[in-house]
Parts: sequence; C-alpha cells; structure tokens
Amino acid sequence: MLTVLILGGTTEGYELAQKLAAFPDLRTISSLAGRTSAPRLPAGESRIGGFGGIDGLTAYLQENLVQAVIDATHPFARRMGWNASAACAAAQVPLLRLERPAWRPGPGDVWQQVQSWELAAQALRTALRVLMSIGRQELAAFTALTEPFFLIRAVDPPDPMPPFAKAQILLARGPFNLEDERRLLIDNRIDAIVCKNSGGTATDAKLAAARELGVRVIMLDRPPRPQCRTVADTKAALDWLYDLGLISQGP
Ligand SMILES: NC(=O)c1ccc[n+]([C@@H]2O[C@H](COP(=O)([O-])OP(=O)(O)OC[C@H]3O[C@@H](n4cnc5c(N)ncnc54)[C@H](OP(=O)(O)O)[C@@H]3O)[C@@H](O)[C@H]2O)c1
Repeated sequence: MLTVLILGGTTEGYELAQKLAAFPDLRTISSLAGRTSAPRLPAGESRIGGFGGIDGLTAYLQENLVQAVIDATHPFARRMGWNASAACAAAQVPLLRLERPAWRPGPGDVWQQVQSWELAAQALRTALRVLMSIGRQELAAFTALTEPFFLIRAVDPPDPMPPFAKAQILLARGPFNLEDERRLLIDNRIDAIVCKNSGGTATDAKLAAARELGVRVIMLDRPPRPQCRTVADTKAALDWLYDLGLISQGP
C-alpha cells in the first residue's frame, strides 16, 4: 500500500486528511505534535508526538515506507519544516509544503511588520490600549511595558499569568466576524493590535476592522522556512500527489 505522511495540526492538514480518506488504496498518516490534551483526530491514521528530531523522522519515513510527505504545519511552527526538509532529503522522499498565504497590507492599512516580539514591544512604546492577538504562550516580551493597557485575547488563560502592569484576559476562540471585531476595538478604545501573520480567513476580520478605524497593526512576520515546493490549498496538494502517481484519479 502507498503511504503518505501529513505533518499536521492545522485546518489545512485536517482538510487534506479528509480528502485523502476517499482514496482506499492510500495509507494516510497524520502526525500531530501533541500540544493539546485531547486533539481532534484527523481522518485516516494518526500518530501523536515528536519523532525525535531529523534522525527520528528519517527513520520513521524509512520504517513506514512513506512515499511522500506533506508539511502542513502552521506558518509559525519554527522547527518542523526544517526537520522535514532534512529528513526527506536523507530518506529521498518527496516533500511538499502546504501553507496558507500570508496576509498582505492593502490601501488604508496601518501596519508595522516586525521580525521578533522584541521589535513588536518596541513598536508599542506610544500605544495606550493594545489588543494582543498572539495566543498565550509568547506574552513575556511585553511585560516590561508599563504604560499601555493590554487586552489579551486567547483560547485558554495564560498559566501562570505574566506580570503585566495593566491587563485583562478575554477568552475567545475564532472565527471572528467583522461586526464583533469592530465593536471590540471601539468598546475597548484599542489603538494598536499585535498579531502574527497567520493568514487565512478565521481571524482576519480584526485587520478589516483596524483598517476601518485607523488602528495600527503590529504584525509579526513568519519565520524563515527551507526552500521547498509550496502550494496554498489542498486541491493543489492532491494535484501533486496525482502527478507523483500516488493517487489514481485526478481530484
Ligand atoms: N506555532 C504556532 O503558532 C502553531 C499554531 C497552530 C498550530 N500549531 C501546530 O502545533 C504543532 C507544534 O507547533 P510548534 O510551534 O511547537 O512547532 P515546531 O517548533 O515546528 O516543532 C517543535 C517540535 O515539535 C515536534 N512537532 C512539531 N510539529 C509536529 C507534528 N506535526 N508531528 C509530530 N511532531 C511535531 C517536533 O519534534 P521532534 O523534533 O521530536 O520530531 C518539532 O521539532 C505544529 O504541528 C503546528 O502545526 C502551531
């Protein structure tokens, strides 16, 4: 049986696993890092937890006779793409990157694109009321700022709560719509938003609301990735598998 490995943990990874489940002659294994305690399991087979670096992944590809790898990890997953690139080269397995396109500033946007949280914190020196839309793991770089009030939106509460001078937690899970995002910015008198350039449509309404209201956006750029053939959607990933001869019919 032909075997495809999806490095997942993203909407795109789930979507691709679902589509590949329609090919009965294909063994599709989705790999999840295991960061959440009860992850939603993708269609097909899944495995959870790290491989043990490049060597571990190389061995896994060889032992499981994997014929193709699709790296569908999140744009801000810093390590896995590099491991996949090195392991696929070592095991001589073709690799495709499936990545949603980054957001780009358009007319009316007031964006400051930064490459680190430290630079994002520097950009906030004149801000008064900030919406933090970066999750709960990477807040520490902002705690030295004592002037702005931080409205921290996250799915789960930070534990422990970083020592902010003025902050409030807002528990919420996307997707978010434009009307609610506009209301949130107005009601909280937000003058700056900090976020990651995740791309996609689930959380982009805040950017449209910011544009309308002239709110400044401090946008963290994506981390560097290895050179790799990249597609933006699952349909193109299916085309690639078809071209490799791993699925028998065109999508
Ligand atoms: N970072 C984010 O903002 C973000 C957001 C949404 C979802 N995610 C998902 O959460 C996962 C972990 O994110 P991260 O930022 O910690 O990634 P990372 O920095 O790229 O990965 C760190 C280590 O976690 C393991 N790992 C990562 N993704 C894996 C996968 N799909 N299957 C098996 N092991 C994996 C690998 O361990 P070994 O070296 O031991 O193999 C890797 O070296 C990713 O799969 C990503 O798609 C991340």
